[in-house]
This record gives sequence, C-alpha cells and structure tokens, in this order.
Amino acid sequence: MSRYARAFAEVLAPLVEAPAEELTPLIGAPPRPEMGQLAFPCFGLAKTRRTSPVAIATELVAQLAESTHNVAWIESVSAAGPYVNLHLCAAAVAAEVLPDVLAAGAAFGGSTHGGGRAVTVDYSSPNIAKSFGVHHLRSTVIGHALVGMLRAAGYRPVGINHLGDWGTQFGQLLAIWQDEGDEERLAKEGIDYLLELYVEFNRRKEEKPELQERARECFKSLEQGDAEARRLWALFRATSLREFERVYAMLGIEFDNTAGESFYEDKMPAVVEELESKGLLVESEGATVVDLEPYELGAALIRKADGSTLYLTRDLASAEWRHKTFDFARSLYVVGGAQALHFAQLKKVLELLGRDWHELVEHVPFGLMRFKDRKMSTRKGDIIRLEDVLLRAVKLARETIESGAEEKGRALPPDIDELAHRIGVGAVVFNDLKNRRQRDVVFDWNEVLSFEGETGPYLQYTAARIGSMIEKADAAPSAELHTELLVSEEELAVLLAVDGLPGCLLRALKACEPSIVADTLLDIAARFSTLYARRDADNRRDWQVLTDDPALSAARLGLASAVRTALVNGLGWLGVPVPDRM
Ligand code: ARG
Repeated sequence: MSRYARAFAEVLAPLVEAPAEELTPLIGAPPRPEMGQLAFPCFGLAKTRRTSPVAIATELVAQLAESTHNVAWIESVSAAGPYVNLHLCAAAVAAEVLPDVLAAGAAFGGSTHGGGRAVTVDYSSPNIAKSFGVHHLRSTVIGHALVGMLRAAGYRPVGINHLGDWGTQFGQLLAIWQDEGDEERLAKEGIDYLLELYVEFNRRKEEKPELQERARECFKSLEQGDAEARRLWALFRATSLREFERVYAMLGIEFDNTAGESFYEDKMPAVVEELESKGLLVESEGATVVDLEPYELGAALIRKADGSTLYLTRDLASAEWRHKTFDFARSLYVVGGAQALHFAQLKKVLELLGRDWHELVEHVPFGLMRFKDRKMSTRKGDIIRLEDVLLRAVKLARETIESGAEEKGRALPPDIDELAHRIGVGAVVFNDLKNRRQRDVVFDWNEVLSFEGETGPYLQYTAARIGSMIEKADAAPSAELHTELLVSEEELAVLLAVDGLPGCLLRALKACEPSIVADTLLDIAARFSTLYARRDADNRRDWQVLTDDPALSAARLGLASAVRTALVNGLGWLGVPVPDRM
C-alpha cells in the first residue's frame, strides 16, 4: 500500500470522527482501475450512524469534494454504492514519489525503523558430517532474506549458523569409524565418505543391534573429552565446513556467528542446575525432563538416562547466551515446521525459568521442499546436494544465455560466467522466497529458470532491461524531472507500486515473510511491463523512454530509474543477485 492510503485516511478522519490509524487498514483498491486507486467502505459507519452505507458514501463524497478541492494529489472522489472511491492525480503523485525514490537511491525502501536494535536470526544450521542437502535450502534462503530485510529496516541483524556439530549422531560415526575409518579416504572424498559411513552404520545396526550401544558409549566419551574422539570429531567438523563454505560463497552468505551446538557444551550445566534448583526437573523413564503436560506440550527432554544432553538442552543454553550477548529485540529461528513442538517447548521452559524475554523468541517455520517424483531421505544416503542444485541452475542459465546469443547471432557476453551465476543462483533463491513460507515448495526446473512468469530471472531481466535503456539514453535522470508529463493511468499504477515498497518491507518483517517483498517486486515489474507494452490506436508501442521531446524523455527516464531502483534494492534484500545487463 502506498503512502496515499494513509493520506486518504487523514482527510476522512475529521469527517467520520475516527483516528486515521483506524481508517488506514480499511482502505483498499477498487476492483477496476477506472474506478480509481483507493476505496473506503462505509459499512462500519452504517452501524453507528444508523443509515445505509450507500447514503453515507454519497454524503462523504459531497463533503470531501468541499474539503479537498485544492488538494493536489486528489483528482476526484466518487461514490460507488457503499464505497467512496478516490482517483489520484498521476502527475501530483509523480511529483511527490519520484524525487523521494531517486534521492534515496540504494537506500530507497529502507528505513531507520529498527533503531539499530539487534535481531538474531538462526538460519541454515545444517548438521555436520552430512552433505548440505537441498532440504536445508529453505532455511538458508529465508534466513538470509530476513537478515537483508532487517538490515534495510535499520535493525542490527545477527546471522547465526547453529551448526549441528554435537549429539548422538557423532557417536554413531565414531562407532562405525572404529571398524571402518580411513583417514586417507576422508581427506580425499570429504563429506561423501562421512555420509557413506553414516549409511553403513544404519545398515549394520539392523544386524548388529549392539552397534547402537557402542554409539552411545562413543558419544559419551566424546562428551567426556576423550582425546582421540575429540580429534576425530574436529576432523569431521572441519571437513564438513569446507563443503558448506562453498555453498555459502555461491549464495553470497556470510554469518556473523557460527557457534554450533558444541559451543554450548560448557554452558549447559548452568541451565540444568537452574532447572534443578527451581524444581522444574522430574525423572521419567530414567530420563530427566521438564513436565510440560499441563501446557499440552509433552515432556521436554533435558538429559537422557545415560546422562548425555540433548538438542533442547543446547537450545536452552544458546537462547540464554544469545540474550546475554546480543540483547536482542527479537530472536528468530528459521527452522522447518516439523520442529514446532521443540520451539514451543523451548519457549515454555524459558518462561518457566522466569525469562521475561521468552516472548521475543520466535520460531519461523516453513513448509517442505519437494522435487517432482523424488523422495529425499538422509537415512538411505539418497540426498540431493544443494551444491549440485545450484551448479545445475548455473549450468542451465549458461545454456540459455548461449542459445539466446546464437539465435540473435551475437557474441557471447564476456562476463558470461558471472552472469550465469547470478541468474542461476537468483532463480533458485527467488523460486523459494516467492512462496508463502509455510507452503510446500515444488521444485520444477523448467519453471524455476523461466524468464517469464513469477521468477527471479524475470525480475532480473526487467531491472537489467531498464539499465540498458538508461545506458542508451546516456543521461542520468535529469535535475528537472518534468513529473507533470506523467499523467497516464499506467504510469500512476507503476508509481504507486514503487511507493508501496517501504511499507511492504515493514509488513514483511513483522510477519517474517519475505514473500511479501517478492510479491511487491513482481507487482512493480508487472505494472512496468504493462506500461512498456502499451499500444496506441494503430497498435504501435507508444511508451519508450527516449522520445523526441527531451522533457518527456526526462520524465520517463525518471520513472524507469525509480522502477529499477526498487527492483535492485528489493532483490538485494532478498539475497537475489542482480546482473547489470542481461
Ligand atoms: N541442525 C538442525 C537441523 O538440521 C537445525 C538447528 C536449528 N537451530 C536451532 N537453534 N535449533 O534440523
């Protein structure tokens, strides 16, 4: 929603005797553009005024015509049944919006809303000693987008990679390593070898159930600091991180903090002691738990029968540490919906411990990612590596560029590697972010990399195309914008979509929903495409940036630059790289 919904609410406020803040959310868009750009429904007023909404709309229109006749941005108001519709004046909107956007440039859309407050974002957080599977893509890109959005809105995001580098799975790896471990193969094959061992462990334990017991002992010796166990664990960790780093580099991700689960090892006893002293711990089948049955959250496992700690114990310690270290305004955990109970338990235990900040802790869940016809399971080792997905996307993007060049009989762009990288990676990232995060994502290669429809390449292409128009015009947007020449309905639609970006960022952050930003960017691009494809009565395209009239060209160049600025900034927040040209 642009700034004009608020402005409309402000002119309505004295007439309906309600504060503008209450009216703003009621204002929507009329169903058809010829009815105007803003609509205020009168149903609510009908109750208090005891007359029909239609009568109220008519009366309000008469009053508004009186009180707003010299307000520049209002072209006209009219009643449509129970609605008051408002037509905005394109040139007046342009005169307000364009200078703002162009002056803000790379900062457009952002704000100082966050006041520099810290927000921790726990994202990606893969388990080491396993390949970085595509199932971790969602957390990685949603979290990265939230970090970018928070920064744009003036927060201090702290991106945390809570590596799964501790826990019983290392006992399993150490147990099978005793029989099979081969450091030379590990050095050569890296994580693939670890995955093979992991699969082998699971296969063998079917025949040799005592292997499970050995794994438990191995993890215990790791926890107790056995030198050889520690050395191997460190080796597995370093090997895994090398692979992860390649993926993060491709995605342009840098974390502020990579304290994995192991980091909290020495911070857990304090939490467990406090739970104990506050009388929150009970024994249950040998294990130590916090009974959350009264809250319908089951039992929160704190310590196993053999004394080893658990995922939740580490998350309690890490929540505490994060609060102490960063004094966060919010603490986000971008983790799949399957862990909803875990985070509900975490919050409840923090509350029972008397941490008044438990309400700042938010689980940001998301749906599954599916490839058509392919089921993924780590257990069987049939894992789709995220790196392979990204490399494939880059390869396909490269092929598209090559065949495009061939069709047009052009030389390949000199920076084809970089270009293919940005398009390929951007396509995969955007394909994920455009979905409401709670929905499952179906990954369809043809769709992901298409240059048409709701895709990353489409947005990148729109931004790049405007870039070349600006380049051809060989002029920076001129000092004199001649906004009075931007009068059409299509131009107004573009301006309003662009003007909606700052508000959409804040709404998206509130809901931790990058798709709200993605939607706005698609809307801006679609409206610009409509304008750009507009045809006159003779069916000729009638909207070019460059015209015979320098003033008109300046106005259109300004509008096009604003669209490009909005797209580049928004894609930047989302972590979608934008090519300069395409
Ligand atoms: N490593 C976990 C997994 O792969 C995700 C960790 C999420 N973060 C956290 N603080 N629990 O499922």
